Amino acid sequence: MTRVHPANDATIAAAAARLAAGDLVAFPTETVYGLGADARNDHAVAAVYEAKGRPQFNPLIAHVADLSAAEEIAVFDDRAYALAQAYWPGPLTLVLPKKDQTLSKLATAGLETIGVRVPAHPVAQKLLRAFDGPVVAPSANASGRLSPTSAVHVDQSLGDKAGYILAGGRSAVGLESTIVDVSGETAYLLRAGAVTQDDIENLIGPVTPSLHAEGGDVRAPGQLLQHYAPCTALRLNAVDVAPDEALLAFGSARFMGVRGGGGFARDISGGRYMNLSENGDLTEAAANLFAMLHALDTVGATSIAVMPIPDTGLGVAINDRLRRAAGG
Ligand code: TXA
Ligand code: MG
Repeated sequence: MTRVHPANDATIAAAAARLAAGDLVAFPTETVYGLGADARNDHAVAAVYEAKGRPQFNPLIAHVADLSAAEEIAVFDDRAYALAQAYWPGPLTLVLPKKDQTLSKLATAGLETIGVRVPAHPVAQKLLRAFDGPVVAPSANASGRLSPTSAVHVDQSLGDKAGYILAGGRSAVGLESTIVDVSGETAYLLRAGAVTQDDIENLIGPVTPSLHAEGGDVRAPGQLLQHYAPCTALRLNAVDVAPDEALLAFGSARFMGVRGGGGFARDISGGRYMNLSENGDLTEAAANLFAMLHALDTVGATSIAVMPIPDTGLGVAINDRLRRAAGG
């Protein structure tokens, strides 16, 4: 199995080069193996969702080598510093206000916050230092399958889709990281893990549990996993576009009639026309989705007409996200 590479200086350097080129790399962490991508590259992030076959775009965790690298992408307050100093490197993810506008909007699912973690595993550490940038990494398994705690698990679950697999033994913790949201006044525990609620409360005081199903919908009321929604209304599955609307196209928009005006969608002016993928490529569409929604949200249109997206492959996640953004 040539796609599994025992970690050493040469394979770690090769893996870092792949990340820089926008390719995926599966790598060991002390919690579970992660499927990594450059957190600033929309296309690479879209490829992560595609490889996992995720039906939803949940925000991903950005992995960095140390606290100072984390400070480049997120805003720390006293609580965040206390937690980071006590548990980093280690199995704790902090959700913090996002600082770096170059992060992929798809990685953060359009949110103004970012999940950040400094993994302890020596191979993860070396990889992050060699790459020298934030790496998003959900667990390196197909959606709905068990999280991988060895390179063999990754290979069995994802095979070629994992890209390059760095092998670094078994994950010692074997459970995904604890997630604490300290982006607002109230601290929330979003995912239970090796760092416990007591551990956290000993450092920063009361934390409200707000646990949700991994990768799925939220169970607890008042949960915090917010979803980005544009202020402008969305009109889904549009087959035409009104003169005061913006158009988010997919594939050829040549025959999208402009209501009452004739002409083609391309004639829509003032930055009101964007195409998720002229070629109808779903990975490209996913990579563009949040950035284009944000852009069209600012052009003063009465609503955003969105052309139909096929409900296959990544299209399922795109349509799920569009329905949420449209308000249900
Ligand atoms: O242990 C781990 O954390 C593993 C290893 C590979 O590091 N990674 C992992 O990532 O479990 P992932 O992508 O499966 O978990 C991401 C979860 C999301 O489903 C969401 O619940 C939460 O982290 N999350 C990330 N960013 C968030 C944000 N801005 N706001 C709220 N929740 C966020
Ligand atoms: Mg997972």
